[in-house]
Amino acid sequence: MTTIDLGRPVSGDVVELILDDHRRFETLLRDLRDSSTDRDAVRQAFATLHVAHAEAEEKHVYPKLRRKQAVGEHEAEHGKEEHAEGHEALLAVLELKGTDTQAFEDAVEELARVVNHHLTEEELTILNPAREEVGERVRAELGEAFARERNAQVDAGCGSLENVRRIVAEAAREGLLDDED
Ligand SMILES: [Fe+2]
Ligand SMILES: [Fe+2]
Repeated sequence: MTTIDLGRPVSGDVVELILDDHRRFETLLRDLRDSSTDRDAVRQAFATLHVAHAEAEEKHVYPKLRRKQAVGEHEAEHGKEEHAEGHEALLAVLELKGTDTQAFEDAVEELARVVNHHLTEEELTILNPAREEVGERVRAELGEAFARERNAQVDAGCGSLENVRRIVAEAAREGLLDDED
């Protein structure tokens, strides 16, 4: 569980709720780079938010945008692959014992690279079509579903080392970690 506030939205436009989390990711990555913070607490908070956010997107947002034909099969599948790569890079950060080592900073650098890439691509290829091609009412319904799943994941302690290991192993089995692009 995390001691850092991750917010607890219950409703809103799904695009705005997703962007709020993307800003939280950026803040947490900055805090992970900062050697004066409690990096162990920050990595746990990051893990919780990363798993909860990705699960909620994959369970509700991507499928709905596919059904509305706002995004194609390729974009949704590519998004899932990038979530898996993010989880893999996150696992490397979580597995390290110390947080004041070169190995930790290298793992944080890789995590930031993978996550920043995904945030950019998702905002360009998934959130823009959601803004342009999906009505306000659907975005609000989707916002509620997204928030509900996200919060349930947080409450279930989704960022535990054990759960992140399980998710990465499953992604590997599904072939989501096969090609790097
Ligand atoms: Fe996202
Ligand atoms: Fe995402």
